[in-house]
Amino acid sequence: MPSNISAKLLSADKSVKGIILSGGARSVYEKDAPRFDRKILNLNLPILGICYGHQLIAHLMGGKVVSGKSGEYGLTKLNIKNAEEILVRLGKSKNVWMNHRDIVVKLPKSFVLVANTEHSKIAVFVNKKQKIFGVQFHPEVSHTENGNQILKNFVIDICKCRKSWTSTLVAQNLIHETQKVIGNEKAIIGLSGGVDSSVAAALVGKAIGKKLVAVYVDTGLMRDSETKFVERTFRRKNLNLKIVKAEKQFFRALKGVTSPEQKRKIIGKLFADIFYKVAKKERAIFLIQGTIYSDRIESGLTKHYEVRKLATELDLPKEITVRQVFPGPGLAVRIIGEITPERVKIVRQAGKIIEEELRGTEFWKNIWMSFAVLLPIKSVGIQGDERSYKYPVVVRIVESRDVMTANFSKIPFSILEKISTRITNEVREVNRVVYDITNKPPATMEWE
Ligand code: XMP
Repeated sequence: MPSNISAKLLSADKSVKGIILSGGARSVYEKDAPRFDRKILNLNLPILGICYGHQLIAHLMGGKVVSGKSGEYGLTKLNIKNAEEILVRLGKSKNVWMNHRDIVVKLPKSFVLVANTEHSKIAVFVNKKQKIFGVQFHPEVSHTENGNQILKNFVIDICKCRKSWTSTLVAQNLIHETQKVIGNEKAIIGLSGGVDSSVAAALVGKAIGKKLVAVYVDTGLMRDSETKFVERTFRRKNLNLKIVKAEKQFFRALKGVTSPEQKRKIIGKLFADIFYKVAKKERAIFLIQGTIYSDRIESGLTKHYEVRKLATELDLPKEITVRQVFPGPGLAVRIIGEITPERVKIVRQAGKIIEEELRGTEFWKNIWMSFAVLLPIKSVGIQGDERSYKYPVVVRIVESRDVMTANFSKIPFSILEKISTRITNEVREVNRVVYDITNKPPATMEWE
């Protein structure tokens, strides 16, 4: 809800069991800082204020907030003074993540101190009678150890909510909703084999069966054995799978094109044309799109987002739930310069080797993407007894939490050596392998 919602509207909605006032980079003393309807404090609903929310409660209820001298940023230890129900079951670690300048220095009347930190004398407070809690730190970020437990304490124990957001229920609701909206019509979905479109196809497939047409376009720019993988996986599901082999069309359209932007445009347009043609032929009037929420907000993506839980719920094979993300334009963004079938084969083969060598290692779980990039230049090498003049391949391995930023992975030289040896041995057109040691920013993960 927006912060200016009225107490009247809130109390009219009987499904509301509690209120969380979120944080924000504001100060209660700023003229246009967000406030809320004071009557909300008397609705008899539990309230949890986080950071700015914590300060706002103190400010509105008679406590005192001042601008801290230095601010408190990063991890700090929480000292629990009174073990209240909001802080139960936290286990041993008490490290919490702070990110604020203002601090609460005086408790409002009827509030008691629950915990402090080195810089925040009043880091957690409670009004027991009204069930109003404030925490200066951020329980919602992963840096706060056991922060989820604090949210659980509030939502389940204090607000008495039932835990109904389970993948089984989410799947059931989505299937039901889809049936209601689509009725007897036909729908079409672009299926790439990635986790998002796979989950969307499996869900809608369960809802409307063969009336869902799933189109997989083999652009010739896919990962190794991708087409076979999609065929094998989805033939078993009860949906109408159409595999369109369009490699030749794509290579023809991309012939001689070197500009990254131009390549993307050509691929996007051809893809849409093919897709539209199938939709028209099949008389499908609904378009299903499998995308994740973070695509809309452009950050916050993690390797463990909930769509992967849904995939398991829908019996999709583990290969789908654990695979790396792959860009829509495919291997095209990993070939600098003109795209030819020969060059695609090189990045595909080299990419497969990179993945094979990393998969069994302890580094795998932290890797966001690992792939090969082909540079359109040649250098001299010596292979067998002969001098060679061949392409170099770039190995790119990155770790990322939020996609907006990434670090190159600090893979041991011994593993990189194995990758390099295998690529130069097995991919005939390559005689040199280099490792990309650039973070994002300044570089992007992909090369185009
Ligand atoms: P960059 O290269 O911008 O990539 O650091 C961030 C993430 O997005 C993927 N990516 C794309 N995905 N279409 C997509 O579907 C695209 O055009 C595209 N470009 C980049 C990239 O693989 C990485 O995971």
